[in-house]
Amino acid sequence: MNWWETDFLAVRENRLFIAGRDAVGLAERHGTPLYVYGKGRILERYGRLEDAMARHSPLEARICYAMKANPHRGILRLLRRRGAWIDAVSPGEVETALQAGFPAERILFTGTSVSRADLRSVFAVAGLTVNIDAAEQLDLMSEVKREFPARTVRVSVRWNPGIGRGINARVITAGKRSSDGTPIKFGVEGKKVLGVFARARKLGFRPVGLHQHLGSGWVREDAPMVRAAVDRMVRKARELERAGFRLEFLDFGGGFGPRYLRTRSVFPVEDHIAYLSRAVAGAGLGVKALALEPGKYLVGDAGVLLLGVEYIKESYGNIFACVDGGTFNTVPRPAIYPSAHHVIVNAGRVDAAAKARVTVAGNICETGDVFGRERLMPLPASGDVLAVLGAGAYCRSMASRFNLRGIPREVLI
Ligand code: LLP
Repeated sequence: MNWWETDFLAVRENRLFIAGRDAVGLAERHGTPLYVYGKGRILERYGRLEDAMARHSPLEARICYAMKANPHRGILRLLRRRGAWIDAVSPGEVETALQAGFPAERILFTGTSVSRADLRSVFAVAGLTVNIDAAEQLDLMSEVKREFPARTVRVSVRWNPGIGRGINARVITAGKRSSDGTPIKFGVEGKKVLGVFARARKLGFRPVGLHQHLGSGWVREDAPMVRAAVDRMVRKARELERAGFRLEFLDFGGGFGPRYLRTRSVFPVEDHIAYLSRAVAGAGLGVKALALEPGKYLVGDAGVLLLGVEYIKESYGNIFACVDGGTFNTVPRPAIYPSAHHVIVNAGRVDAAAKARVTVAGNICETGDVFGRERLMPLPASGDVLAVLGAGAYCRSMASRFNLRGIPREVLI
């Protein structure tokens, strides 16, 4: 069995099956390139988180889907019916979540570089919670709030605990600087948090929670630092309670799973949940709910991109499988993040004795437009279907129309 096989993806008689359906058949029926998402896998992941939270903490568990990972309407409706909450980062996401039937009470809006127009849109939605990203954002908030005199806006504070973790410099979202030296723009500095709570209350907002998000793509080795950040969050919450703020929820953000590469370790999600539950209980905090904001964990490995091979090209000894989609328009992660890796499988012939080093090249005019570089795989042929795995998160949502290419269709099965 291949390490990436799940209930969603299986190999039978050397062919790839997606949620029990022959991948080549799906490609023939719907055309390529094509995103295929699996409801069963998403629900299974959701269930695992829900069970772990219920097992380790008596508090209410809020699984806030980070919809930026994949705002497909069907996925949103599926998770809404299952009881999920939403982490939304723009008015567009808030609007889409509302259309998918999420009640405003289950939406947390976490903006960055928030504008007056953004605030106007989210204050207009009664019941939604606004997560404050900067002490300075309160000036804009108090100005816009005057247009909504009768509304009590629930707010929380996204603080930066001074520790960030992530798979590459671009997705580390806490600490002073990222691993490549980029100053981190997110969140309120530790020493300013109490002041933001106090001023928010004074301005007529209702402070209800504390939030942190450290980054994305954690691996096992990140666990000690993640725990240290959990400890800091709990200490900060205690400080706020001592100062007289009653916190309804603590939100520990997202950042965990899935596995994209066999050799990469897996972050122990359940241990993390156990740890943070214990930390909150041990501190005797009066919070009512614990929240997590999974994006990748829920949908990352529940999606596949199917590509058609147009021809095999040889040049200066390099072998290219030239496919009918480009990374920028389909799975942009390898073109954006040097460390991103997506397994690529020939759907009609997963394995063969004879293998070649194949670079899977897209149809966009950039050298970086390769789905995979010199991958050892059975040499594809014209007309074959290649499956790019791990395409459920941050693929369609980050796809652009660069080169004026189209964006693939999506099916949810
Ligand atoms: N909460 C907040 C406030 C976030 O900013 C994010 C992701 C999440 C939760 C969910 O993180 P996740 O569980 O999906 O790791 N485009 C990058 C990932 C950027 C994530 C940005 N924020 C990628 O493709 O790797």
